[in-house]
Amino acid sequence: MTNPIRFSLVAVMAGALAGCGGASDYKPVAGSAPEQIFAEACASCHGEKGSGKFGFLLKIAGSDHEVAEITGKIAEGGMVMPSFPEIGEAERAALATYIKAQ
Ligand code: HEC
Repeated sequence: MTNPIRFSLVAVMAGALAGCGGASDYKPVAGSAPEQIFAEACASCHGEKGSGKFGFLLKIAGSDHEVAEITGKIAEGGMVMPSFPEIGEAERAALATYIKAQ
């Protein structure tokens, strides 16, 4: 009999070793405004307008990071955050500017 607990442990460890949140297949409608893309793709984790979830957790509004760091984060993702390969370069830059302006 397979042990379901052991199986899920292996699955979690494999995910941790891969070291990323995977890739999102979110694709913005062409010509979407950055606030719309943010609401659709980012707000579920970073809160409305990047104001954070559960208080300051994951707050990114008014970020001090350079635009290039933010666009890189969107393109590459993180340990938990998925990458967004379908968000184009111009849209990533617009999103970064939008986040910093909040
Ligand atoms: C599934 C949840 C999730 C989604 C969706 C998500 N993020 Fe994140 N984001 C995170 C987590 C968790 C971190 C911090 C840990 C990490 O890098 O994985 C993070 C970190 C960041 C950072 C770096 C913050 C810092 O101060 O270092 C930026 C910038 C960012 N996200 C922007 C975005 C943008 C823009 C989108 C939408 C295109 C987005 N995120 C979508 C979960 C998410």
